[in-house]
Amino acid sequence: MARRLGAVQVAGSQRLGLGGVLGPDRLPRPASSDTLPPGVLTTALRSALRVLRKIVALATLINIDERAVIGPGTFIPHFGPIQINGEASIGADCAIHQVCTIGAGSRPGAPVIEDHVFIGAHTCVLGPVRIGAGAVIGSGAVVIGDIPAGATAVGVPAHPIAR
Ligand SMILES: CC(C)(COP(=O)(O)OP(=O)(O)OC[C@H]1O[C@@H](n2cnc3c(N)ncnc32)[C@H](O)[C@@H]1OP(=O)(O)O)[C@@H](O)C(=O)NCCC(=O)NCCS
Repeated sequence: MARRLGAVQVAGSQRLGLGGVLGPDRLPRPASSDTLPPGVLTTALRSALRVLRKIVALATLINIDERAVIGPGTFIPHFGPIQINGEASIGADCAIHQVCTIGAGSRPGAPVIEDHVFIGAHTCVLGPVRIGAGAVIGSGAVVIGDIPAGATAVGVPAHPIAR
């Protein structure tokens, strides 16, 4: 199955963060110490991938921490600026529009965004909040509390509206 992470299209079926795509955890490990000098190739490849990830972030203004977990089909239709915290978890088939921060707030912890969530442009999702599956977050919202599944939420702070 193909999935898209910002400008990056990757193949595979397991759930990965961008770090899982470009990060050190995706590097092949030497099969044994007989086949490769211990650690040398791995270290070089990890360094190269870190540089590549920086270049992608600079070119797209999309900065996704390598520890963030992002589900298959999640889509960033435009360039950034977009910042995604390392502890954030984003489900499958979400859309994240331009100028969004999914990051730390005043309390410890990071957002959990379930599947099929639409995040409008210029939105901040901050701290240990949960956005339920299928929710729509209107442009310009600041989410600092949980949003129920299927809700449409707008404003600062974001609150559900009747539809
Ligand atoms: C949130 C959204 C989905 C609501 O759309 P909708 O269901 O058609 O709702 P309406 O336009 O009928 O608005 C309903 C109410 O919410 C308010 N509202 C709508 N969007 C809002 C927003 N982004 N921020 C604050 N209030 C908003 C309206 O003023 C209206 O208030 P009222 O009932 O007091 O008059 C839409 O306005 C939105 O923000 N979409 C995201 C767009 C976006 O970022 N696209 C990416 C383009 S690149």
